[in-house]
Amino acid sequence: MSPTEVRRVRESEAEALLALRREALTEAPLAFLASPESDVAVSLEAVRAMLRGETGAVVLGAFAPELAGMAGLYREPQAKAAHKVNLWGFYVRPAARGQGLGKRLLEAALAQARTMEGVTSVRLSVSAAAPEAKALYARTGFRVWGHEPDALRHAGETVAEDHMVLEL
Ligand SMILES: CC(C)(COP(=O)(O)OP(=O)(O)OC[C@H]1O[C@@H](n2cnc3c(N)ncnc32)[C@H](O)[C@@H]1OP(=O)(O)O)[C@@H](O)C(=O)NCCC(=O)NCCS
Repeated sequence: MSPTEVRRVRESEAEALLALRREALTEAPLAFLASPESDVAVSLEAVRAMLRGETGAVVLGAFAPELAGMAGLYREPQAKAAHKVNLWGFYVRPAARGQGLGKRLLEAALAQARTMEGVTSVRLSVSAAAPEAKALYARTGFRVWGHEPDALRHAGETVAEDHMVLEL
C-alpha cells in the first residue's frame, strides 16, 4: 500500500476536490448543511478561488495516493469573532474509511488551527446522521456546548445537531 499524505490541497487539484465534495454531499446529505447546488464548492472556479486562499478557508486533503478525504477550516471574518475557527467538510470516501485517515485529517486541521495567530478555539456542528464523526470528535477532545433539535431537514427526514468546541 502506498503511504498516505495529509497536506493542504493545491489549486492544481481543484477538480479532484470538487468531485470529492460533490460525493460527500450526495453520499451523506444529512451529515452536511450544504447542498450540491448551493455549496461553497459550486463550480471549479469557486474551488480554485478557495484553494488560492481567497475565501478565508483552508482545505486539507488525505492522498492515498489519490484524494480520498478532506477537512476544511474557516475563520470567522468579523474581528469580534476572529478568535474562532470552524471545522467543515470533514469527509473520507467510504472505501478508505477505518484506516486512520479521518483521525490524521482531524489532527492536521487542529495543528493548522494552532498556527493561526489569535485563534483560541475550533468549533463544529455534527448531525445525528454522523455518529462516527461525533465519536471521533469527542475522543479528540471536542465537547458539546449545544444541542439543536430539528436542525436539518432533507428528503422528508429531520436530524438534530450537536455544536462542539475544542479550546486550543
Ligand atoms: C467521520 C469520518 C470522516 C471518519 O473517517 P475515517 O477515515 O473512517 O476515520 P478513522 O479511520 O480515522 O477512524 C476514526 C475512528 O473511528 C473508528 N471507526 C471508523 N469507522 C468506523 C465504523 N464504521 N464504525 C465504528 N467505528 C469506526 C475507528 O476505529 C477510529 O477509532 P480510534 O480513533 O479509536 O482508532 C468518515 O466516517 C466519514 O466521512 N463519514 C461521513 C461524513 C461525515 O459524517 N462527516 C462528518 C460531518 S460533521
